[in-house]
Amino acid sequence: MHIALTGVSGFIGSAIARRLHGAGHTVTGLVRTTSRRDHVEPFVERFVVGDHADQSCWAELLEGADCVVHNSVNWQPLKATPVDLDGHLRSNLDASIRFLHASAPRQFIFLSTIAVHHDMLPREKAADGTNLVDEDHPLRPSRLYGAYKASMEAHLWAEHFGAGRHTSALRPCAVYGLDPQLERSHGYQVIKALRETGRYDRPGGGKCVHVDDVAAVVGARWSATRPRPGSPSTSSTATPATPTGR
Ligand SMILES: NC(=O)c1ccc[n+]([C@@H]2O[C@H](COP(=O)([O-])OP(=O)(O)OC[C@H]3O[C@@H](n4cnc5c(N)ncnc54)[C@H](OP(=O)(O)O)[C@@H]3O)[C@@H](O)[C@H]2O)c1
Repeated sequence: MHIALTGVSGFIGSAIARRLHGAGHTVTGLVRTTSRRDHVEPFVERFVVGDHADQSCWAELLEGADCVVHNSVNWQPLKATPVDLDGHLRSNLDASIRFLHASAPRQFIFLSTIAVHHDMLPREKAADGTNLVDEDHPLRPSRLYGAYKASMEAHLWAEHFGAGRHTSALRPCAVYGLDPQLERSHGYQVIKALRETGRYDRPGGGKCVHVDDVAAVVGARWSATRPRPGSPSTSSTATPATPTGR
């Protein structure tokens, strides 16, 4: 099968490409002119160059694809000080909704986030006092990023119920593993501090999931199901006591 993948050059996208390639699928990956490619070249059959908000590159990206994995996110407007609200809405929310519709009727897998769950209902507490969040828990984000992902999930449901389309949203918590930008890897600062001072202190906690497990869930979403009406799905790859996804 052939999959169109956005954000293929990134941390999770590169792991997804590797996984899909290993399972015998072919991948068309969207990259920007500035994106690093060397680390994913063995796993990508065809690169399409463009910005994910630029509709003129979508037809080339979607050509021959049975399924879409929309994984890219533009952090820049979200991390700007002050936050670039217009830029974020244009580049992330508006573009993703339009891309969802432009890619119909293909199966659509969306990288959401555990940040859709900021406020957790008391009824979701387990006997040991930890929070339990399942796929039926309401989405109550606390920031623009989580609100964007939650909004997209609503559009995935609308595509399913309105058009009989197969859609999935995955909600990873903090993802660890070797990031192509090594210094961004979770644990990098820990190891650095230990090497330099022999000591690392950090209060608090959180839940993590390995990048290869996230990629495996994407692969399972695809390989377990074929683009067809029915069975929408929202998969959480981990359930955090304290949401730490970014
Ligand atoms: N990492 C986590 O802990 C975590 C947790 C939960 C959910 N997620 C979700 O997982 C997805 C991937 O995250 P990540 O951690 O792998 O991020 P990442 O490493 O920063 O990768 C982001 C990818 O998106 C691409 N991109 C950004 N802006 C773009 C644009 N305007 N047009 C086209 N491509 C663009 C980047 O391309 P360049 O290489 O050119 O920058 C890169 O390939 C995101 O949707 C994120 O919300 C991540």
